[in-house]
Amino acid sequence: MRIVRTVAELREVLAPFRGGGVAFVPTMGFLHAGHTSLMREGTRRAGMVVASIFVNPLQFGPKEDLSRYPRDPEGDARKCEEAGVGVLWCPEVEDLYPEGFQTRVVTGELAGPLCGRSRPGHFDGVATVVLKLLLAVAPGVAIFGRKDWQQLRVVERMVEDFALPVQILGMPIVREPDGLAMSSRNAYLGAEDRVRALVLSAALREAEARWRRGERDPESLRSRVEAMIGAEGRADIDYVEARHALTLRVADATVPGPLLLAVAVKFGTTRLIDNVVLG
Ligand code: PAF
Repeated sequence: MRIVRTVAELREVLAPFRGGGVAFVPTMGFLHAGHTSLMREGTRRAGMVVASIFVNPLQFGPKEDLSRYPRDPEGDARKCEEAGVGVLWCPEVEDLYPEGFQTRVVTGELAGPLCGRSRPGHFDGVATVVLKLLLAVAPGVAIFGRKDWQQLRVVERMVEDFALPVQILGMPIVREPDGLAMSSRNAYLGAEDRVRALVLSAALREAEARWRRGERDPESLRSRVEAMIGAEGRADIDYVEARHALTLRVADATVPGPLLLAVAVKFGTTRLIDNVVLG
C-alpha cells in the first residue's frame, strides 16, 4: 500500500488506473469494521481501492468536536492495508483548502431536516469535500455507509446534479455484536453510556419487527421508537423522525416509497445517529 499526501502524488500513482478502475472510500479516520467493510467491498468492485483519511474542518460547527476528533494514523494505515487498500490518501488541510480557498457547494432541500437542522452548514462542508475528493481520485465507484443516510442522499443528489461520472454505492450499517452501530464517536462513550446507547438499535429493531408484522403508519412507528428511547432516562434526544427515505420529506402514509426511521441522541457529550430503512 502506498501512502500519499498531495493531489499531485495521488494523480501520479493513479495514472495507470484511469478510466473507472478505481473504487474510493472517503473517511475521517479512526477506522472501524464499518469502514473496512466498505474497503473490502471496493476490492470486489475494482482493481484498485483508494481510501482517504481527512478530518474535514468545513463540516464541523464552531461548537463541535473537530479538535478532539479521535485519530489513530498508524492503526488506520494497518487496517487499510489489511482491507486491501492500494493507495491511502492523507491530505493536509492546506492540500485541500489552500490559502485563498473560497468556493463551496451549497446543498438543498435534502440537507435541511434531521442532522441539517442541528448542524447548520454541515452538509455544505461534506458536499464540498466529497466533490474535491471525487475530482482528485476520479473513481468509477465511491462507497459510503448507510449509517449516515442523509449524507448518502446528499452525495447521491450532488453527483446527479453535477453529472459526475461516478457510481455512488451505499453499504449496510455494520453493528457491534450487541447492536450498537459502529461509529468513530463510540470511542467517546463511557461504560455506562455505552450500555444506555443500546436503546437506539433496540428501538429501531422493534420498529422493524412491527413493520414486518404489517404496521405501516409512520407516526405510530416513529412514536414507539421515541418512547423507547425516551424511557432511557439519560438519553438526550435531538430527533426521532419518520421520513420518506429518498426525498427526506416527512413520511406520509399516502405517499408510497421506503420509510426512513432516523434518530440522533446524545449520551453525555456524545451524539450518536442510527437509522433503519423499511420497505
Ligand atoms: O462520513 C464521513 O466520514 C465524512 O463525512 C466524509 C464522507 C469522509 C466527508 O468528510
